[in-house]
Amino acid sequence: MTDLLQPDILAALQDRAAASAHPRELVVDVLRAIQGQHGWVPDAGITLAAQILGILEIEVEEVATFYDKIYRRPVGKKVIHVCDSICCWLGGGEELMAALQNKLGIAPGETTKDGVFTLLPTCCLGACGDTPALMIGLTTYGRVTAERLDEILEKERQELR
Ligand code: FES
Repeated sequence: MTDLLQPDILAALQDRAAASAHPRELVVDVLRAIQGQHGWVPDAGITLAAQILGILEIEVEEVATFYDKIYRRPVGKKVIHVCDSICCWLGGGEELMAALQNKLGIAPGETTKDGVFTLLPTCCLGACGDTPALMIGLTTYGRVTAERLDEILEKERQELR
């Protein structure tokens, strides 16, 4: 199971859990660490997180499945979260999702054949003044037109090289 976390990161998380009065508060941190190394959180990652924190696997799972940016299935190297909430609906979000599907040749929930991009709808990204919005990694892009998509996708691809 240690292939899910580097030894130094595992030790640091164990130390934080031991020092915490409420280790359950660290669930997201542990899951993000696993995801950061593995790309997503397999069942073994749920087990490992529960062991580190001394809580039940179901307590980890309920957090993992609540947050849509914790991935319980394999995803591409970059996950495109397209806002699917009301301000973006009004601001062209549906057209943006359609343009992405068209450019990438995938439907929501799918990954491109080259394994680079996964496309997922998400709830409000907090960029309601700059609709339509999407997020890739830690970057939120607002006022995304179909024309800007090529530039954004190329920039994200470049970061992998
Ligand atoms: S509704 Fe899309 S960013 Fe808020």
